[in-house]
Amino acid sequence: MSLHQAEFGVEGKRAIVTGASQGIGRTVAETLATGGADVAICSRSQDRVDPVAEGINEDPDAGDALAVECNVRDRDDVEAFVQATVEEFGGVDVLVNNAGGEFVAAFDDISPNGWEAIVDLNLTGTFHCTQVAGRAMREGDDPGGTVVNMSSVNGQHAAPNESHYSAAKAAIIRLTETLSVEWADHGIRVNCVAPGLVQTPGVAETLGIDESDMPPRDQVNRRIGHTEDIADVVQFLASPAAAFVDGETYTVKGVPRAGNAMSADLGLQ
Ligand SMILES: NC(=O)c1ccc[n+]([C@@H]2O[C@H](COP(=O)([O-])OP(=O)(O)OC[C@H]3O[C@@H](n4cnc5c(N)ncnc54)[C@H](OP(=O)(O)O)[C@@H]3O)[C@@H](O)[C@H]2O)c1
Repeated sequence: MSLHQAEFGVEGKRAIVTGASQGIGRTVAETLATGGADVAICSRSQDRVDPVAEGINEDPDAGDALAVECNVRDRDDVEAFVQATVEEFGGVDVLVNNAGGEFVAAFDDISPNGWEAIVDLNLTGTFHCTQVAGRAMREGDDPGGTVVNMSSVNGQHAAPNESHYSAAKAAIIRLTETLSVEWADHGIRVNCVAPGLVQTPGVAETLGIDESDMPPRDQVNRRIGHTEDIADVVQFLASPAAAFVDGETYTVKGVPRAGNAMSADLGLQ
C-alpha cells in the first residue's frame, strides 16, 4: 500500500458512532472497525447494540468495540457515553452523528410532540453529541478530530409529508458549515453526508420499502443504496485523505434524479 493509499484509512482512530444497532450506523461502525479503528457505539437499547460490538470484537484483525446504551436526546446519557469512550480508548478522534429517524405525516397532522421528537432526535441529538465529544477531542493528548453528520437528501430539497425531518436535516447541513469555521482553529473538521434512499430496517419500517433483490454497488443507476455506499464515504471523510475537506455536505444518492428521491418513491410527487 502506498503512503497515499494509507491516508484513506482510519487505523488507530478512536471513533464514536451513534445509532449503530442496525442500518447505516451499524455498517459505518463495522467499516471503521474493519479499517482498524476502535469504535464506541450506542443505541437506546443495550440488548440491541451489544451483538454489533460482539461481532466486531470476534474479528481479531478489527479494532475494538464498546457498546453503550445511550439516547442521544438525553444530555446525561451522552455525557456518560463519551466519558465511557474516553475511559476505554483514551480519547475521541472521530464522531459520526448517525442516530436519526422520522415518521411520515402531512404538516397539518404533526402534533407539537411529534415535531419535537423528530427535531430532538435528528438535530438536538447531533448538538448534544457534537458538543460533548468535541470537548473530548480538544482535551485529548493529540487535540483535534473529525465530525461526520448525517443529513439526508430530504434536507436539501422539498420533502412533502416529512417537514419535521427535512427541517431538522437541513439545519444539520448549516450546523456543519458553521461549526467547521468555529472549530477550524481546534483542528476539528466537520462534514456531512446526505444519503438518498438506502435499504435499512428503518426504511423498511417507515416507508414500507423492502428491496430483497438489491442491485449491485457497481451499478450507479439504481433507486436505492446499500449501507456500504454511505459507510465508505463516511470513512473517507473521517480519514486523513479528507484533510482539506471541511464544512461540506456529500450527497450520496447514485444517479441524479428530478425532485426528491424518497418522496418520489412514496409516490408523493
Ligand atoms: N435509510 C435511508 O434511506 C436514509 C436516507 C437519508 C438519511 N438517513 C439517515 O441516516 C441515519 C441512519 O438511518 P437508517 O435508515 O440506518 O436508520 P434505522 O435503520 O432506523 O436505524 C436507526 C438507528 O438509530 C438508533 N436510534 C434511534 N433513535 C435513537 C436515539 N434517540 N438515541 C440513540 N440511538 C437511536 C436505532 O437504534 P435503537 O432503535 O436500538 O435505539 C438504530 O440503530 C439517520 O440519521 C437517517 O435519518 C437514512
